[in-house]
Amino acid sequence: MTNDFRTPYFLVEEELLVRNLKILKSVSDVTGCKILLAQKAFSMYATYPLLAQYLDGTTASGLHEAKLGAEEFGKETHVFSPAYREDEFEELLQYADHFSFNSPSQVKQFAQRARELGKSVGLRLNPECSTQEGHDIYDPCAFGSRLGTTLAQFDESILPLLDGLHFHTLCEQDSDALEVTVTAVEERFGKYLHGMKWLNLGGGHHITKAGYNLERLIGIIQHLQKTYQLQVYLEPGEAVVLNAGFLVTKVLDVVHNGIDIAILDTSAACHMPDVLEMPYLPPLQKAGKVDEKAFTFRLAGPTCLTGDVIGDYSFDGPLKIGDTLVFEDMALYTMVKTNTFNGMNLPSIVYRRQDKTQQLIRSFSYEDFKTRLS
Ligand SMILES: Cc1ncc(COP(=O)(O)O)c(C=O)c1O
Repeated sequence: MTNDFRTPYFLVEEELLVRNLKILKSVSDVTGCKILLAQKAFSMYATYPLLAQYLDGTTASGLHEAKLGAEEFGKETHVFSPAYREDEFEELLQYADHFSFNSPSQVKQFAQRARELGKSVGLRLNPECSTQEGHDIYDPCAFGSRLGTTLAQFDESILPLLDGLHFHTLCEQDSDALEVTVTAVEERFGKYLHGMKWLNLGGGHHITKAGYNLERLIGIIQHLQKTYQLQVYLEPGEAVVLNAGFLVTKVLDVVHNGIDIAILDTSAACHMPDVLEMPYLPPLQKAGKVDEKAFTFRLAGPTCLTGDVIGDYSFDGPLKIGDTLVFEDMALYTMVKTNTFNGMNLPSIVYRRQDKTQQLIRSFSYEDFKTRLS
């Protein structure tokens, strides 16, 4: 890894993307299902020409992502929003070809217009089947969730307007959780599946993680396609870019207050907000857990926020000003969530090709901070 670029920067590796993409493509090749990139997890569109060789299109959370997918990726453009805006819908119709609505009321408001233009229309279901514990903010089946239509709220009068059904309930899970969810969907909504052209199984499938049970996933997809004669879609975000990106940073200063603290040129609050939101300890190259190696340091950001702390790690030697540190698995949900709190500059974006050449794709400046604020 080179230090030529100004830190901090995201380094995205083509070779690691291709590794994930081949696994995903093997699932669509064997089953005939279609796999879409969920752009909310990763929108570095410089990679879209590569991704488009393996995936069937993109899915969007609204107008901007749909436009990006249509402009830069091509192929199919799907969109799901918990609530579409009247003043954006006409423009959205220019970019998306598949629309998933969250409620019968949104179907009644928008589906007719979409169908007039030849768009495919679906409804997101809430199968009320939680398969995860602990993180309610990532569980669309948690009590009180606004996401998806429950059986009690299903309104059969909209059936003639529907081409497909959609559910998204998983987060970093294996196919055993999908199996449980599909059973719940079939129990509650099976009678509606028979008339549909497609079923979208959402994201949260940890397909490219070592040990993921691909055979079971393939079996579930084949079962659904055979039983209901429909096209299955998957729309993973995380699985597309899992372990394919890094955040390269340098030590700006080392201070001491009961513990050793290294202040980095990257910030948890600005450059990796999930570290604070989840919270989690991002993997760091050449480092161990606290006290596993001889020298333990707290790694913290340069903003004024006391809690701008990435975490505590141990190292073989003491950290010094100018040392380079490399955080792993930093492409998914990280690049899309950066912000300029405290006037922090955004990390540059570097792309490492399979031939090992590295290209600066984008760097940021004062203008990117200023132009957002007035
Ligand atoms: C509707 C929908 N589809 C797909 C995804 C992608 O999920 P993941 O990145 O976990 O695969 C999400 C993530 O929140 C989502 O809300």
